[in-house]
Amino acid sequence: MSEVLIQIDGREVEAREGMTILEAAQKVGIAIPALCHHEQLEPYGACRICTVEVETRGRTNLVAACCYPVEPNLVVRTRSEKVDKTRKIILELLLAHAPDAPVLQDLAKEYGADKNRFEKEASFCIHCGLCVRYCAEVKKKNAVGFVDRGTRREISFIPEIASKECWNCKECFPLCPTSALQAAFVLTEALISPPLAPPSEA
Ligand code: SF4
Ligand code: FES
Repeated sequence: MSEVLIQIDGREVEAREGMTILEAAQKVGIAIPALCHHEQLEPYGACRICTVEVETRGRTNLVAACCYPVEPNLVVRTRSEKVDKTRKIILELLLAHAPDAPVLQDLAKEYGADKNRFEKEASFCIHCGLCVRYCAEVKKKNAVGFVDRGTRREISFIPEIASKECWNCKECFPLCPTSALQAAFVLTEALISPPLAPPSEA
């Protein structure tokens, strides 16, 4: 694959064709916040916290760094007034769902986001989809999915699958940026009947 020369925050960066801006930045140690990105998963573009400013063919746009592929002579700014303002609003929206999530609180401090700006809809899930996509794409089990739509959207374990597959896995737990996943799993465990039990030795 050929190399593509781009500029990130005034620095020349050699990226591989097909890489995203986020991957190119990470390769040279330039930090861009990312809440729904995982190197083993397909780009998803759900949280938009990775928003950066790009300049290409004389135009400036805000794009999601985790989805936007590098192209020759692309100029990227990972911090600017517009970028910071966008991230601040995104954080305020996410904080309405998960006001106590440490990762959001740290970012809120950095971008001056107000966790009380929007009315609380404390689902404790920011819909990053990491758990759902990891289970589907990496584990190929589909034990957890999204239910409902819009602001009522939430994750749910499918008891029939979870009771067989999740006991020895739980790899999605540490991926959750808000820890909501644990709560959901425990809830499912408590609610289904008969209770989840490890599969018996055959
Ligand atoms: S439960 Fe956690 S990992 Fe799953 S979609 Fe919600 S925030 Fe993301
Ligand atoms: S990390 Fe890019 S949209 Fe979530």
